[in-house]
Amino acid sequence: MLNLRQEFLELMHERHACKIFDRDRKISSEDRDYILEVGRLSASSFGMEHWKFLIIDNPEIKERVQEACWNQPQITTSSFLVVILARKDMRSSSQYVLNRFMARGLEGEALSSYIEKYSNFIDARRDDEITFWSKQQTYIAMANMMNGAMAIGIDSCPIEGFEKNRVNEILNFDKEKFELSVILPFGYRINPKKEKNRQDIKELLITL
Ligand SMILES: Cc1cc2nc3c(=O)[nH]c(=O)nc-3n(C[C@H](O)[C@H](O)[C@H](O)COP(=O)(O)O)c2cc1C
Repeated sequence: MLNLRQEFLELMHERHACKIFDRDRKISSEDRDYILEVGRLSASSFGMEHWKFLIIDNPEIKERVQEACWNQPQITTSSFLVVILARKDMRSSSQYVLNRFMARGLEGEALSSYIEKYSNFIDARRDDEITFWSKQQTYIAMANMMNGAMAIGIDSCPIEGFEKNRVNEILNFDKEKFELSVILPFGYRINPKKEKNRQDIKELLITL
């Protein structure tokens, strides 16, 4: 446990937003599966798994996506991209939501009381608030995948610097059900990472 404690901290120091990847080094399918598995296991509010992972390794699609991402070279130099989509169909009447409840083995009284609790939590919200809630959950999967990748020596860079409408035009997914949340390229760094720049812990804490 002691080793893991130290190693995890080192991993957090080592992970950085990699600005350019070695375009000649490809991530193995075994390592890709590992990263995606870490994403799949992420926590989410009500256990609703508010995400879908769209995988892109096609160079032509990456090229077009990069143009819609302020031309950031992380996109085309990466080995593959995970475009994380946030679910919009999160009201209590949604089949997806019902399926998630059923998958947990809830039935009868337990199911209806949980649905009522969920419904009180979500149904009075506006559509954009619900999508925002889903997006918040996708960032948990994103962070886990970034750290999980670093644990096996793979770099990443979260990308929010994009023109959403342009990316939407390029990518083929159900826009009724999903919203583009964040783009996550993975690859191997070619440059050493810079020193971490963070506020001192004292500046972050409010102790009551
Ligand atoms: C949601 C999110 C979006 C980001 N978008 C971009 C981006 O579009 N381009 C980029 O180069 N870095 C992006 N970053 C990386 C941050 O700038 C970076 O994480 C931060 O400066 C801290 O540096 P570090 O991750 O190397 O420790 C993003 C980070 C997050 C969490």
